[in-house]
Amino acid sequence: MSSIQKKVEELIDLRIKAKNGGGEKRIASQHAKGKLTARERIELLLDEGSFEEFDMFITHKCNNFGIEKESYYGDGVVTGYGTIEGRLVYIYAQDFTVFGGSLSESMAAKICKVMDTAMKTGAPVIGLNDSGGARIQEGVNALAGYAEIFQRNILASGVIPQISGIFGPCAGGAVYSPALTDFIIMKKETSYMFLTGPKVVKTVTGEDVTQEQLGGASVHSSKSGVAHFVVDTEEEGAALIRKLLSFIPQNNLEDAPLAVNTDSISRLEDSLNDIIPDSPNKPYDMYEVIEAIVDNGDYLESQKNFAANIITCFARFNGQSVGIVANQPKYLAGVLDINASRKAARFVRFCDAFNIPIVTLIDVPGFLPGTGQEYGGVIVHGAKLLFAYGEATVPKVAVTLRKSYGGAYCVMSSKHLRGDINYAWPTAEIAVMGPSGAIEILASKEIAAVEDPEAKAKLIEEKENEYRNKFANPYVAAKYGYIDDVIEPRNTRFRVIRALQSLATKRLANPAKKHSNIPL
Ligand code: HXC
Repeated sequence: MSSIQKKVEELIDLRIKAKNGGGEKRIASQHAKGKLTARERIELLLDEGSFEEFDMFITHKCNNFGIEKESYYGDGVVTGYGTIEGRLVYIYAQDFTVFGGSLSESMAAKICKVMDTAMKTGAPVIGLNDSGGARIQEGVNALAGYAEIFQRNILASGVIPQISGIFGPCAGGAVYSPALTDFIIMKKETSYMFLTGPKVVKTVTGEDVTQEQLGGASVHSSKSGVAHFVVDTEEEGAALIRKLLSFIPQNNLEDAPLAVNTDSISRLEDSLNDIIPDSPNKPYDMYEVIEAIVDNGDYLESQKNFAANIITCFARFNGQSVGIVANQPKYLAGVLDINASRKAARFVRFCDAFNIPIVTLIDVPGFLPGTGQEYGGVIVHGAKLLFAYGEATVPKVAVTLRKSYGGAYCVMSSKHLRGDINYAWPTAEIAVMGPSGAIEILASKEIAAVEDPEAKAKLIEEKENEYRNKFANPYVAAKYGYIDDVIEPRNTRFRVIRALQSLATKRLANPAKKHSNIPL
């Protein structure tokens, strides 16, 4: 064998060693826990054969607690780049088979390298998390590594899309890198996220709680709102990340890819003419409206089980990617509350940062009143949504289907917050408040003066009808130009597509400033 051949053989051996991570036993243990390895995850996610690896031969530099005797090529994370549907992405996948995927200084440097390169080339970063947190033996160097990653997450925010898949433990300060990214996907049963684990919780608060109860996928998708998507399997997780990327651009200077549209753009949806119930207090399902108007009824919903009174999803109109924000009358009558405001505000800001037009479907009775909301700061959280809409410069198309009352009227993509095209169905009711609330304030003395219960009820009905006839319709708003047109519900798809087409060349900029001060 020539000396060159020997060197090539040596390289091949080293590669095999590196690809074996923490060894066969730990790989078997990873599989026994129902988890894939870092390399299997990358293979599942990227286009076949597209992965190019960086830093395969990096090892840790630590000499504490005997760890100097144990080291593995790659040191707990597999990093590099590849493609998804032919589009460049950067990726890092923590390798739990090496010191539990815990973060070392070397590992942080690898992750930072892919983030820096992604920023230079303007491509998304996908992080697949499965880690025991800071590598204990490395002390402050591990903490420094996390902080270096956080800093890059912050600078990349709004420049390149950042997606976090959580496929194992994600504990301690480690949760803050995913929290700084745009979307978090959690897998049921094997993933969890928390700042402090059950043992520390027990010591500090005396509370007995399991890992799942504290930070499992169901908790973060329904209670805290930390996770945007939940999947049953890792295969489903990879498919979801691929689908999510199909709706979003590579970076803030590009538009989302245009898909080939196979759905008729002039399709009339007769069912929409009958979808609004006769009674204003009866709900209907906003998902039916979304399915009826978007291309092929296909959409991808973010935070489905959190604040279900508002729907946030990606969809397409004539192949163009949009973000839809829609009140859901079927859940809490579609009211705006703290969680709905937080959820929708973040979604609107993501869309705006990445040039994705926003389509808003409105049926909202107002903000939820009461001490629970006021003590929780609904003023400041509601202001987030107001701020997000008012700050957004992407095309904004809105359709008011039924109620649009009070502050919620102003907030939900109104003309006054630079809404571009605002349509209403003939069933729209745009007013300061609903008829019963209004009459209680406007005619309380007159009503109280009537003693006979039958006459009282009749008077209330008369007053409410008078108010309804005057305000509970779209024509007052249309008279002032706050609504551009009152449209037949079955035409909605066609009208929204035309509106979006007309706004394709929209240019609007906010005043120059260091940054705004959104009410956090
Ligand atoms: C070094 C670690 C480690 C860590 C796990 N390992 N976590 N090594 N530092 N943080 C090692 C284990 O010693 C073990 O090595 C291997 O990884 C697998 O771990 P197991 O415990 O056997 O696995 P499992 O039973 O699945 O439990 C996983 C786990 C548990 C729940 C994650 O390992 C755990 O609780 N780890 C510590 C979590 C933690 O408190 N981290 C620090 C958070 S503080 P061998 O050789 O046996 O395979 C933090 C601060 C960051 O992260 C602040 C940033 C601002």
